[in-house]
Amino acid sequence: MSTVLYPGSFDPIHLGHLDVIEQSLELFGDVVVAAMHNPSKPGGMFTLDERLSMIQRSVAHLIDTVGGTVRVVAFPGLAVDAARSVAADFIVKGLRTGGDFEVEQQMAHTNYAAAAVRTVYLPCKPSLVFISSRFIREIAKYGGDITAMVPGTVVADLVRASQHDRPGTAT
Ligand code: PNS
Repeated sequence: MSTVLYPGSFDPIHLGHLDVIEQSLELFGDVVVAAMHNPSKPGGMFTLDERLSMIQRSVAHLIDTVGGTVRVVAFPGLAVDAARSVAADFIVKGLRTGGDFEVEQQMAHTNYAAAAVRTVYLPCKPSLVFISSRFIREIAKYGGDITAMVPGTVVADLVRASQHDRPGTAT
């Protein structure tokens, strides 16, 4: 069994993320999901605490499954420091597209150069590759239906957040 860190902004967590968590649990056994800050994505929809709560509810059915564990943490610093703090053997990341690979490869090399922390990529399930937190936020803001893209436990959070932030509505 290995311990792996799965860092992300999870703003919000979606079914593609959940697929990576489930694959990691099956392959490695001990998964720590870390809600983090992505400096290149300022002005998201949810606070770190809200994202942590949404992840916790989305993985509740996986915690302490036979042969594996899932933990959820919020970590405001560097991914390599989060990996060290939970004694992770390596970082895991999900890949949807070639564009993801370009970004992730650069981060993986940087994290290795900075702290000798290695990264393993997991391909996202083909039926889920189109899902992105950015488009979920956009659809939710305009009152669209995001129920096919996120865990059922977070739908109400998106509806509530989008009602505060509906474009074109008077404030
Ligand atoms: O879900 P995202 O937004 O693609 O996740 C990106 C994230 C949060 C994993 C990345 O921005 C990150 O690692 N942030 C923590 C700060 C850090 O370690 N920066 C150095 C990256 S090489």
